[in-house]
This record gives sequence, C-alpha cells and structure tokens, in this order.
Amino acid sequence: MRANKGLAGLIAGDTAISKVDVSTSSLWYRGYDINELCEKTSFLEVAYLLLNNDLPNIAQLKSFEEFEKENRDIPDILYDLFKSAPKYGHPMDLLNQSVSILGSVDEKNILGTNSQEENLIKSMLLISKMPTIVANSYRLSQGLKAIKPDKNLSYSENFLSMILGKEVKDSLSVKTFDTSMILYAEHGYNASTFSARVTAATLSDLYSSVSTAIGTLKGPLHGGANEQVMYMLKEIGSANRAEKITLEKIRNKEKIMGFGHRLYRTGDSRTGVMKKLGKELATKLGIHIWHDISDIMEKTMIEEKSIYPNLDFPAASAYYLLGIPIELYTPIFAASRVTGWAAHIIEQHNDNKLIRPSCDYIGPSSRNVQPISKREL
Ligand code: COA
Repeated sequence: MRANKGLAGLIAGDTAISKVDVSTSSLWYRGYDINELCEKTSFLEVAYLLLNNDLPNIAQLKSFEEFEKENRDIPDILYDLFKSAPKYGHPMDLLNQSVSILGSVDEKNILGTNSQEENLIKSMLLISKMPTIVANSYRLSQGLKAIKPDKNLSYSENFLSMILGKEVKDSLSVKTFDTSMILYAEHGYNASTFSARVTAATLSDLYSSVSTAIGTLKGPLHGGANEQVMYMLKEIGSANRAEKITLEKIRNKEKIMGFGHRLYRTGDSRTGVMKKLGKELATKLGIHIWHDISDIMEKTMIEEKSIYPNLDFPAASAYYLLGIPIELYTPIFAASRVTGWAAHIIEQHNDNKLIRPSCDYIGPSSRNVQPISKREL
C-alpha cells in the first residue's frame, strides 16, 4: 500500500486540546465552540484554557494576566539582534532566532526538565514576550524607535500599540485584533503544531519545539498565507478587476492564497466572525475596497471551484485596516498559535513516544561503487 501524499487523511495521534469537526465545519477548544469563545472571552482566557484544560475563574485570570504583564520585557541581547538585522530580513526569522535565544538564556531550560510545571512557566513566558519581540524586531530593523511594553494596557491593547507606535484603545480595533488572536490560537494537528510535536517527542525542550513550529508556520501554504493574501488584494487593486483576475488564476492553475483547507471542504468556521469584524472596521473607516474585492473573489472561487476562504483571507484585510505592516501578519499568527503549540508540546511530553514514521524506498536497486575514474557524469 502506498503512503498518502502529504499524510492526507491519516490519523497521526490523539489530542484533548481541540476538535476540528469537518462534518459541521466547526472548531472546538477543549469542548468550547470557538464562536462562543470569541463572543464571551478574551485571548488570554483562551490561552489559559488551552494550557490548563478549562477557562479561568476571576482569581486565576487575574494572576495569569499579572504574570503576562510582568514578563513582557525582553533581554537586551534581543534588541542588539534586531538593530543589526538587515531591513530585507523577514520578522519570522527574527522571531525564530529570538525564541532560540530565550531558550539559551533561560537557566531553567538548560538545567531543567520537561515537567509540566516547568513547561507551563516557559509557555507563559513566551506568550508574554512574543508581542514585544514581534513589534520591536520589525521596528528596529526598519530604523524605527523601540517601544517598550506598557503594563497599564491589556494584552491586545499593548501588542497593537507597540506595532502601530501609538496607543490604541479604540474598542473595535482591540476587539478585532483580540478575536483574530483567539481564532489563530489552535487547530489540531496542523503542520506547525505537528512539527512542534515531532521535536518535543525527541525530548527536546519547549523553546526548541516552538522554534521548529515557527519555521513551519512561515511557509505560504500555512501561516505565510495571510501576508500573501494582502499582497494579492493590493495587486488586484480594484473590485472591477477581481473576477477577471480570479478566473485567470484559476485557468493558470495558480494556488489562490487564503482559499482551501486540508480538512474543511465546505468552509472554515473561523472566517464568519473575522469577516464580520473586518467589515465593521471598514464601515467605520469608510474603506470598502478590500472587502469589495474579497467578496467577488470568494463568490468566483465558490462558483468555479467550490473552494472556500480560510481564516487567512478575512484576517489579512482586517489587519490591513488596523494599519498593521504586512510583514507582521504571520509573526502575529505565531504569537497567538504559541498557545496551541505549547499545549501540544506539554501533551506530548506528558505521554511521550518518539515520532518516527517509515517510508517506502523508491530509488535505484542495489549497485556496486565504481572507482572514481570510471564514473560517468
Ligand atoms: N487555489 C486554487 N486551487 C486550489 C486551492 C487554492 N487556494 N486550494 C486547493 N486548490 C485545488 C488544487 O489545485 C487541487 O485541484 P486539482 O485536484 O484540480 O489539482 C484541489 O483543490 C485540492 O488541493 P490540494 O492542494 O491537493 O489540497 P491540500 O489539502 O493538499 O492543500 C492547502 C490545502 C491549504 C495547502 C491548499 O488549499 C492551498 O495551497 N491553499 C492556499 C494557501 C493557504 O491559504 N494556506 C492557508 C491554509 S489555512
């Protein structure tokens, strides 16, 4: 029997963290529907849920939020790295290097174990520090001034304010951003999470496993798609070109970024709330062009190919309306997904078995080594 290309359709393990229900196109974090979580909770409550099995009570949330606020600062060695980074470098690479450096300066990581207790602290440190890394790696490499985190602001107010270089407290902007963080947080055995579990399964530490996942998320078939969506919408540039260009891309068998999903075939449950908030922002700002183009592309893709948008499609235009630089879309996704990665790494470490599949050999059959003088090109 031949292997399924891309492991499609293969059940690769168990998890109690989230359920992707393909039959209803829905997504559940530890038994809670993501749409209800978006309506009634904040990103930090969801982060707590993913790491600790259930939603926090008032006291638990307070201490989780306090930990996050107290640990937002990053070591100077990272600011030095950002200052010396080339302008053309991608912030995902700086994020990857930063997480590795955090692992190498955390004494508990070098000398400690992969116990649940230590892993939880490392996870919370990463959740607290990644926004400072994402915002300032970009700012410094672009020659802008660093902006230190502000303990008086909530997680999403602080993250957005550091990115935009001005204090953001407007409730629609903060709600849109925070909701995107909830939606991006976790998604079963997606490629980056699976790669994190492969690394964790060798008993490597949490920071190294997260670094692996960041490298995997960067690719345009995965997290990198949200940036590509925005470049594509800008290239199309006007609603009256949207149908023609979409049809051309279909005819040329191009992959249209922000569409399709390995598991969902009749739509991604995360798109509805993201699109709704993006459109509210567009109405507030009076900027409709990105949604006009998007609506035509969506209609054309469904009519022509029965392929639906995934979360990256509405997230890209929402981020653009928020004023976020395009290069930061995937690093923001990583700052959210670190919660899911961490939960999976903990789950893997707590019931570990090395992940090492087999493969079918399809190369030449056995042959003798010829002396180098007799080898043909
Ligand atoms: N644009 C155009 N055609 C697409 C498509 C897209 N975004 N996504 C899938 N298809 C088509 C494929 O060309 C293929 O058609 P064919 O059978 O005629 O060759 C068919 O749908 C199956 O696609 P395939 O690439 O085999 O599915 P997959 O499960 O391996 O890939 C993705 C899933 C997500 C990698 C794929 O849909 C994709 O590349 N999407 C764009 C990138 C993206 O948005 N990634 C974020 C995912 S959350």
